Amino acid sequence: MSGLDAVSIITAKRDGRALTDAQIDWIVAGFTAGRVPDEQMAALLMAIVFRGLDRAETSRWTAAMIDSGSRLDFSDLPRPTVDKHSTGGVGDKITLPLTPLVAACGAAVPQLSGRALGHTGGTLDKLEAIPGWRAQLSSARMREILADPDVSAVICAAGDDLAPADKRIYALRDVTGTVESIPLLASSIMSKKIAEGTAALVLDVKVGSGAFLKELSQSRELARVMVELGADAGVHTVALLTDMQTPLGRTAGNALEVAEAVEVLAGGGPADVVELTLALAREMLALAGIDAIDPADALADGRAMDRWRSMIRAQGGDPDAALPIARHVEQLCAQDSGVLRRLDAMAVGVAARHLGAGRARQGDPVQPAAGIDIHVKPGERVVAGQPVLSLHTDTPAALSAACAALEDAWDIASPGTAVPASSLVIDRVEA
Ligand code: URA
Repeated sequence: MSGLDAVSIITAKRDGRALTDAQIDWIVAGFTAGRVPDEQMAALLMAIVFRGLDRAETSRWTAAMIDSGSRLDFSDLPRPTVDKHSTGGVGDKITLPLTPLVAACGAAVPQLSGRALGHTGGTLDKLEAIPGWRAQLSSARMREILADPDVSAVICAAGDDLAPADKRIYALRDVTGTVESIPLLASSIMSKKIAEGTAALVLDVKVGSGAFLKELSQSRELARVMVELGADAGVHTVALLTDMQTPLGRTAGNALEVAEAVEVLAGGGPADVVELTLALAREMLALAGIDAIDPADALADGRAMDRWRSMIRAQGGDPDAALPIARHVEQLCAQDSGVLRRLDAMAVGVAARHLGAGRARQGDPVQPAAGIDIHVKPGERVVAGQPVLSLHTDTPAALSAACAALEDAWDIASPGTAVPASSLVIDRVEA
């Protein structure tokens, strides 16, 4: 008998007391094993939303979730390992060019990625738009690819044994209004990243309408807690706070974003995608102790593109295959001439989901070709009648919901108005 019980743990947190290590270990393990029922874990999660967890509790909660499964270990690889995690946004295809770029500069990049949910896109859904590409890899195959000096980068789905407690707790949070809690968000993200076995980690914490947390102060706090969790677990962690008020780049949607990522790897692409890719690459390389190489050179001279091609092939994909094209495309045009003052990330993300690029519930299918082309970005001039967005879908019945989501998505200021450029990288947080 452990002498522990769920009701006393719930009431302790409800009354604002810190949980002990033993209480945290017991409840997380008990819930994962099915001994603690959903209603008791839901009550505890809601108590945590209101009362919070302090640093020691958050660290232990994270460790308990890691211990619920197995932890990968790549410390014997000849190259330093480093990964990046984004808290999710609209048009955020940065992982696609970043992973091969950082590998081309000398690091090994073990990226366990997720799928689209709600208004945010998912890296695995994007890559699955490439014919033949597979997201599921065994740990042995993952290690083989990371050890291959011509690849050393992998983007794949987490196995069932990686922080299984987080999978169960996250599913319960999703249906009990307990997602938006900083310690729960931070421990969920960091349990998977620490279990994945990377030695160093750069976090891209989004701020603005398309982010999980809209306010800068909340995003800053989330970044601080995650950086501390990394430090507590021996993973060198740095966070950048970056703007997600407007979509990144000029596309949102799976195949459309792959095409844009390939443009970046070819030395072109939208300036904001290039800027953020390079900012994150510099942070990752610094943490990996690789400072002799400028990632901008590896983008410009084709080394990152070569690495992309070998990375896609290593997972069964054909980097030369044509990407899927949607059956229907509809343009939304500017009503007035002037300067685009605002294009709302959340509205574009919701519309892309309606078109089929994302999913409302876990497990829903996505359309690889669905999404949105963004012809005009904030600060650019626009003429009445000119297309601002093109909506791509295989299901034209979805267009009305997408158009409704975009009703108030942009503003046009009168010609000549100066629209101040917002900076993409807002701040940097380290331990
Ligand atoms: N992504 C995660 O992995 N966990 C959360 O809690 C939210 C987003």
